[in-house]
Amino acid sequence: MDIYIDTANLDDIKEAASYGILDGVTTNPSLVAKEGVDFHDRLSEICEVVDGPVSAEVVSIEHDGMIAEAMELTKIAKNIVIKLPCITEGLKACKTLSDEGIKTNMTLCFQPLQALMVAKAGAFLVSPFLGRIDDIGGDGMELIQQIRQVYDNYGYQTKILSASIRHPLHMVQAAMIGSDVATVPLKVIQQFMKHPLTASGLEAFLADWDRAQAILKSNQPAMA
Ligand code: E4P
Repeated sequence: MDIYIDTANLDDIKEAASYGILDGVTTNPSLVAKEGVDFHDRLSEICEVVDGPVSAEVVSIEHDGMIAEAMELTKIAKNIVIKLPCITEGLKACKTLSDEGIKTNMTLCFQPLQALMVAKAGAFLVSPFLGRIDDIGGDGMELIQQIRQVYDNYGYQTKILSASIRHPLHMVQAAMIGSDVATVPLKVIQQFMKHPLTASGLEAFLADWDRAQAILKSNQPAMA
């Protein structure tokens, strides 16, 4: 399973990259706005840190504008993936870019037919936002399961990128369903190696070790 970090914050990206498990980055207009930096400059900084796919989202909502933005974004680095919304104009842009060999990430996916359509248009990634479905009382994980089944039924190669991951259980469930990728904020990635029994077990091991060393040392004959 690939793990992307969901942020435009360079320090967070560098921190996650230092763990040796980072496969890519997703950004969105809200995440970039939070940083208060130039979008293209930041993407270029991110691509210096991460070799894998870096998603950059367009803000046009019609085909020609999307394509014009995509052409500028792809100049930044070879690993830029164009993020387009799951609307009809985005679908058309996905087809145009895919036919040109440009990778796309179809975002704001909330139902399985959007995922089916973008796979037919050649999308590289589809991003179902499972946390936002849970937020309104739905079952985000059911959507991941539905898309997995549809893609497996027909052999679509579009990768399922579970997005809007809020906590480790989302990650466990997405992995069990067979989501190809998950994009996760740093604070959630940092929970993946944590368990209270690991912490207390390690503390006990180290205390026992220190106690044994102290006993061995006190049993040694004093030097003349
Ligand atoms: C994915 O590409 C999106 O940037 C992201 O996962 C949205 O998450 P949110 O619902 O926590 O904003």
